[in-house]
Parts: sequence; C-alpha cells; structure tokens
Amino acid sequence: MRAWALCALLCVGRGAEDAETVAFRLATRKTRCLAFDEGVDCQDLGACVNGTARRRAFVSVFDAHVKLPLTSRKGPGLLEHEAKVARVARRNGADRVVVLPVPERQRVPVANATIAALEDLGIEIRYSEHVVPPKLSAGIKVESGGCCGAREFLKLEPMGYGEYDAMIVMDLDYDPEDTADFGPLFDCVAEGRVLTTRGPEVPVNGAFLAVPPSELLRRRLHAALETARVDARTGWNGEGWGPNNNPRRFQARMQGFFHWFFYRSRASDAAADAQARWRPAQVDPCVWNLQKGFADLCMRELCYGHARAFSHLQHPHERCACVDDDSWTAAAVAGAVGGGTCKHVAKAPDRRCARVDAAGRSASLACPSACDARCTARREHHTM
Ligand SMILES: *[C@@H]1O[C@H](CO)[C@@H](O)[C@H](O)[C@H]1NC(C)=O
Ligand SMILES: *[C@@H]1O[C@H](CO)[C@@H](O)[C@H](O)[C@H]1NC(C)=O
Repeated sequence: MRAWALCALLCVGRGAEDAETVAFRLATRKTRCLAFDEGVDCQDLGACVNGTARRRAFVSVFDAHVKLPLTSRKGPGLLEHEAKVARVARRNGADRVVVLPVPERQRVPVANATIAALEDLGIEIRYSEHVVPPKLSAGIKVESGGCCGAREFLKLEPMGYGEYDAMIVMDLDYDPEDTADFGPLFDCVAEGRVLTTRGPEVPVNGAFLAVPPSELLRRRLHAALETARVDARTGWNGEGWGPNNNPRRFQARMQGFFHWFFYRSRASDAAADAQARWRPAQVDPCVWNLQKGFADLCMRELCYGHARAFSHLQHPHERCACVDDDSWTAAAVAGAVGGGTCKHVAKAPDRRCARVDAAGRSASLACPSACDARCTARREHHTM
C-alpha cells in the first residue's frame, strides 16, 4: 500500500510501475461496470431510442484450427445450441452469422455436412481470408494461450460488416435465454457505442462484445494491433493491467486488447480517438453475460430470471432457495412507511411476511431470507 502511495506521487505517467504495484480487486456490485478501472453506473439501456438498430446480428467466429466440437459431454451439442441461438436471433429481428476462415486456411476443415446443417437452421456462414491479422505486430505472440492465441482476433473480422447497425460478437457457447429481449441493447449499440461486460477476474470479458460494425472500426482495431506490444508484466504498450485484472491471467488476446484500447489507454492517440468516437461503456454482466465466477455477485439476477444471457452453456441454479427478489414491492397500504421491499419486510417479518404485491405475490414467497424459517435457520448456522 505504501509503495503504491509513493508511486502515485512519483510515478506519474509511468504505466509500467503501475502494473507492478496495483493490487488485484475482486468485483463488487459497485464495480460491475467499469470505465478506466473505476466502478461506474452501467449504461442505461432505457435511454436509447427504440428502433435505432434496424439491421442486427449475433455473430460468432471459429478458427478451424481444431475440430469443430459438435458434441459436448456436459450440455447440448453445437447444432442444438445453434438452433436456439438462431431462434433467439429471429425473435430479436437479427441474423445469426458464423464466420469461418476460407477453406484453404482451415487447419481442420469444417465438414460440408456441418455447414449444410447450420445453413438449414437459417444461419449464414461467411468466410475470412485470414485467421491471424496479416500485419500483426511482432510484439504480440501468435501462441499466447487461451483457446486460440492470436487467432481469436478473427473476432475483428465481422466488426467490419458495415451493412449491420449493431452486432454482438459472441463466443460459440455464449448462451442467451430463449425469450431474452436484446432490443434495447442493439439500439444503444446502433447509436454508435461499443458495449462490453467485465468478468470476475478481468475488466472486459471476450465472450460478449457488442459493436456498431463498420470498415472504419475494423481498420482502427487492426491498425492498433499492427503496432501494439503486450507484456505479461507491463500490459499493453506498457500501460499496465489495472486493479481489476487478476495478474495470474495474461491478457494477450482479444479481451485484454479491447480493454486497453477502449477502457484503459490514456497514452495512445488512436485509442483516445476511438474512445471519443465509439463512447465505450459497459452493461450489467449479471444481465447480459453472467459467468460462473459471478454466481454470488449476481445471485438475484440468476435466481429471479433477470439474466438474459450466460457466458457458457452450463449455469448453476443451485443455492437459489433463500434469495430475495429485489424487484418485489408490497402494494401500498394506508399508513405503511419505509417502502415495501424485502429489506423492509426483514425488519419485522412476523408482521410483514403476509404482505402482497400488486400481482398478489406474498412476501413469504418473494422474501424467503426473512420469511422462510429454513433460510433463517441456515443463516444462523452460517454465522456461528
Ligand atoms: C420497441 O418498439 C417495438 C416495436 O414498435 C415494440 O414491440 C417494443 O415493445 C418496444 N420496446 C420497448 C422497450 O419499448
Ligand atoms: C466440400 O465440398 C466441396 C465441393 O464438393 C469439396 O471440394 C470439398 O473438398 C468439400 N469439403 C470438405 C471439408 O469435405
């Protein structure tokens, strides 16, 4: 701590020192959305004009460096999942697009039968001439771990599809809820914003990147990759990793690059220009990209169906039994003060657990932590 305070006085403008001395901070409700590594309000999606996004897409890329995993031991297979994603896309007035390298760049060719099966689901297959960006800087390793090393920068390819107003570039196992409305999100993106979510140990998670695609956006991102360098100790271009990045994770790929370029860099002119032009913001990860590591932080969204998408196919619903519904409010009764939320109920459960909301749902159901004896017992056991 003292080292950091000294550094704050003496190390102005020396990002590399920063990288070595800033301690990692766990995510909290207040730091669910970040800008320049500080917790900020999440982007208010209600503030964007309904209908701005006319042409929308859910896009995934696959590098064909390994066999396309058609089956999964733990969850639905690829085609079953794609059928769901295509359905969600249709409901949201969006295309479902999968980008592959051109056949001659596929190390493990994707079978024609698989392509045909995807197309039968209404999915559009598009091709990229390259996998790793052709002029990738020597300061960025091609094999840097993760699923695909620098091949993950294939995600930049669709960000140039300017015929769309708004697009979500998502991992193949990003899992939207069947009835999720992505309209407000697409609209805010179509107003020209880049929107992301953080992860439990990273300030930007690469499973969900929402962008207003254009030639210009793709060109700027590729240009930044032509000169950038990344180092495990000093971060991207020596600007450090910041406190929201677990230093055990080397963010040499898409999400680390996106974070540096849109949400962290103060030293790069190209990044400053991109930050002004694309107004990067974050949306609530508990709603748009709920990850396993957020099971505690996002308990309410998880348990009460407010989450619209998960970052991986498997998402645990256990431990939901004693979680209050934050959105429950007792119907107004004459003389009641202090609001009718579960918090209020918890102060006098004996009298208040019988209250109902406008829809007739009682506090005894919506506020189990105060009104269900099993939850009270469990809590007392835990605090002993
Ligand atoms: C946006 O407009 C569409 C079409 O008019 C409508 O169905 C939808 O409910 C609106 N969404 C919101 C959030 O107002
Ligand atoms: C797909 O079909 C084309 C045309 O018949 C053929 O040239 C190609 O080798 C096939 N690709 C694979 C991966 O089987």
